[in-house]
Amino acid sequence: MKTETIVDLKHVGKSFRSADGTARAVLEEVDFTLHEGEIVALLGQSGSGKSTLLRIMAGLIPSDAGDVRYRGQPLYGPARGIAMVFQSFALFPWLTVQQNVELGLEARGIPPDERAARAEKAIELIGLSGFEGALPRELSGGMRQRVGIARALVVEPEVLLMDEAFSALDVLTGERLREDILELWGSGTMPTKAMLVVSHNIEEAVLMADRVLVFASNPGRVRSELRISIPRPRDPNSHGVRTLIDEVYALMTVTRAGRAAEPAIEPSLTDRLPEADVISMEGVLELLAKQPFNGRADLPKLVEESELTDDELLPIANASHMLQLTELAHGDIALTAVGQLYVAGSNALRHELFGKQLLRYVPLAAHIRHSLEQEPSGELREEHFLKLLSDSMDAEEAERVLRVAIEWGRYGEVFEYNYHTGMIHLPEEDVEPPKEETAV
Ligand SMILES: Nc1ncnc2c1ncn2[C@@H]1O[C@H](COP(=O)(O)OP(=O)(O)OP(=O)(O)O)[C@@H](O)[C@H]1O
Ligand SMILES: [Mg+2]
Repeated sequence: MKTETIVDLKHVGKSFRSADGTARAVLEEVDFTLHEGEIVALLGQSGSGKSTLLRIMAGLIPSDAGDVRYRGQPLYGPARGIAMVFQSFALFPWLTVQQNVELGLEARGIPPDERAARAEKAIELIGLSGFEGALPRELSGGMRQRVGIARALVVEPEVLLMDEAFSALDVLTGERLREDILELWGSGTMPTKAMLVVSHNIEEAVLMADRVLVFASNPGRVRSELRISIPRPRDPNSHGVRTLIDEVYALMTVTRAGRAAEPAIEPSLTDRLPEADVISMEGVLELLAKQPFNGRADLPKLVEESELTDDELLPIANASHMLQLTELAHGDIALTAVGQLYVAGSNALRHELFGKQLLRYVPLAAHIRHSLEQEPSGELREEHFLKLLSDSMDAEEAERVLRVAIEWGRYGEVFEYNYHTGMIHLPEEDVEPPKEETAV
């Protein structure tokens, strides 16, 4: 089968100016082709530039490097054949369902009769017949999101870009809507020839897509790709689907940009520390130690059991791996020997082990500790470290990384932080008492 290219991105880059005026690369060297007949899912951490990429593809914002083509033509502005569904419902509250759906057609100068007929058709397609006259506030969240999708479909787009279209909905409603869309897609009643779906949910991506792309952050770019050829509808509990979900977890558990979480990664001072709070990490490690896991778990199962989302669990998995409290391989997480000691230990032992691992494996923490030890007062302003970090990341990211380092440092009792003064200091018991001037 010959697959026609619909949208083609080459070396696409985009920077935004932050508040202090410095440009920050959000996307860099993004190469991506969307073909006729495929559904592609895009996964990546929050802030990695997924929405920005979709906006560029829809022609809503320009890229500032590289080449973006729709059907071979450079894209300069909103493309007629491309429609986007936003995460939030973005409906006009004072317009009825019918009027909201017609909006997109009005902008295209389509006469009223035709508008009405086409809107009705789209509303029916998406399962909202009978609600044409309703106002958004009279609808449930799931129905409102259906209106958003009908509004995108009414223009009969070739390409449908969905930016977390299901994530604001409760789980069951999201699943229903996703299944309905896949059914429409499979039945050929929808004019759409290709879909790009941004998701925060790994299972959703695997159930929907022909290809799953994993985005790296800072700057955003395509890190890896997984092809899925299991026919739809896919059974979420089938062996094939579970194996693929594991594979995507494995692709997503990385401690360093672009590298899978194999051991023996040389850490560096300016590593972006995963945003994992220590209390949740403690909870997850305890859970991992218990039945039925007994120290080793399939990540998706651990997500389920911990009642955390992928977004919450992945940073914890990455952080515990960075600290060598766990090992990650092939979508599995397992306690290391130190990790087992940690879980079995008293609170005091946990803090101590954590602190040791921290100094050993997280160079930023070791650097902070070492710098404080050099100071007679045992303290330094946080700006001192922010400045160091901001050489290799923007100010916002530097603050985030330092905040994580401080939280981990406090838990591991290797340094303290005073929220009132912004000073980082050695724990009291580690400060050498000043030598008494012995006056005779
Ligand atoms: N108009 C803008 N001006 C300045 N910065 C922006 C703008 N739009 C996005 N950004 C920044 O670009 C980065 C990427 O944002 P984007 O919304 O594309 O990420 P995302 O991957 O969609 O994240 P999420 O998963 O949270 O939706 C973020 O750091 C964001 O703050
Ligand atoms: Mg987004």
